[in-house]
Amino acid sequence: MANIINKPRGTQDLIGPKARNYNSIIESLNQTAELYGVQPIIVPMFEESRLFKRGVGESTDIVTKETFDLAGKGGHEYTLRPEFTAGVVRASIENKLYASPDLPIRLYYSGSFFRYERPQTGRFREPHQWGIEFIDQNLDLNTITDAMLLMYEATKSLGIKPIFKLNYIGSSESRAAYREALVSYFTPKIEEMCEDCKTRLKTNPLRILDCKIEDDKKIIKDAPRIGDYLVEEDREKFDKIKAILDALDVEYIEDPLLVRGLDYYTGIVFEIYEGDHLNLGALGGGGQYDGLVKTLGGPEFAGIGFSLGVDRLMLTLDKPETIKGPRVLILNPESDITLFKLQSRLRKEGQSSFMPSASKALGGALKTADRQNIAYVIFKDGDLLKVKDISKREQHEYKEEAIDEIISLIKGE
Ligand code: HAM
Repeated sequence: MANIINKPRGTQDLIGPKARNYNSIIESLNQTAELYGVQPIIVPMFEESRLFKRGVGESTDIVTKETFDLAGKGGHEYTLRPEFTAGVVRASIENKLYASPDLPIRLYYSGSFFRYERPQTGRFREPHQWGIEFIDQNLDLNTITDAMLLMYEATKSLGIKPIFKLNYIGSSESRAAYREALVSYFTPKIEEMCEDCKTRLKTNPLRILDCKIEDDKKIIKDAPRIGDYLVEEDREKFDKIKAILDALDVEYIEDPLLVRGLDYYTGIVFEIYEGDHLNLGALGGGGQYDGLVKTLGGPEFAGIGFSLGVDRLMLTLDKPETIKGPRVLILNPESDITLFKLQSRLRKEGQSSFMPSASKALGGALKTADRQNIAYVIFKDGDLLKVKDISKREQHEYKEEAIDEIISLIKGE
């Protein structure tokens, strides 16, 4: 065992109950999306690097520091996806989904993505997301609020008590005025701030608001607020979104410093949290993107979407891992054909069963049954089939021909 190979830092092996927990979260989220009339999409795990540079933005940490880039193959530069939105928008353009008479385009997705971050609780290098993107020629309040409601209800259905953090970063007109205000505010202070903020001041001053360095945060807290720079139309839209959320009993707080870590956002931006697990960071985030479809070569369509961090949902749900194993254990040291037939029938009848390794003795099998919550242990004794009901501590005996009776017993008929 000297030469074992470990998984890369920041990745996970999800085994048994953990993998089951992952699957059941995805299944529940898929069901909520279907309830909202949303279609599934599966996109590649790697794309041309320029998709993410153009899509996610060259002033973001995600693109400048955190991508897993694949050495050129066939003259292409490829990158493992650091998120889904750029890929889903690329697929919507490439497959001309925008030409459908039935807009908006409404898609949901899930899978792992890759960011070279410093691993810690709730932060991985190959995390998993579940999310949606809604894309339309005229992205209206119905679509915007439906996307947000879906995020809220999907997390609630998982048993989480979600709360939104909201901000409105507005149209390009609002943001131009705000950008100027930020530049005036930060320029005299920038020498005291980190190297990243110095670069951000030149490339995208809004991103300074997302700096995680404590000393910088003290300067940031008194920075101008976007709310004071929104044009009238933006202000009205934000008020209407909040009025709809209020009417639907969606809980939220406004956070005027919320800007998100990706460049494509315009309009509404939001993150979702659970009060008891703030240390994990946001369970999910999203927002509106007016320019992304065009930036990626598509028509002038706008979109809204969000992604939930499935790993953080798993940590938040923190369920005692319910041990759910097979219902029936069949001890078959001699590889007896009757027992194979019985196992096949049980499985056809929807009763999960398995045979442990042939070396297992009855005593060991009963201990396995206890550990794995198995309901019945079956073994052959001479010509008889014996069935132990573990919880009732009873034993039943059957002739080999009596498979139907065994099935009835196990099905509780
Ligand atoms: P994001 O905020 O970068 O947004 O990621 C969304 C969520 O994914 C986060 O709130 C977090 O729960 C989870 N997440 C991100 N990075 C990690 C990590 N390293 N480890 C564990 N969990 C992580 C986006 O990715 C956007 N594409 C969301 C979006 C969709 N906007 C519009 N449409």
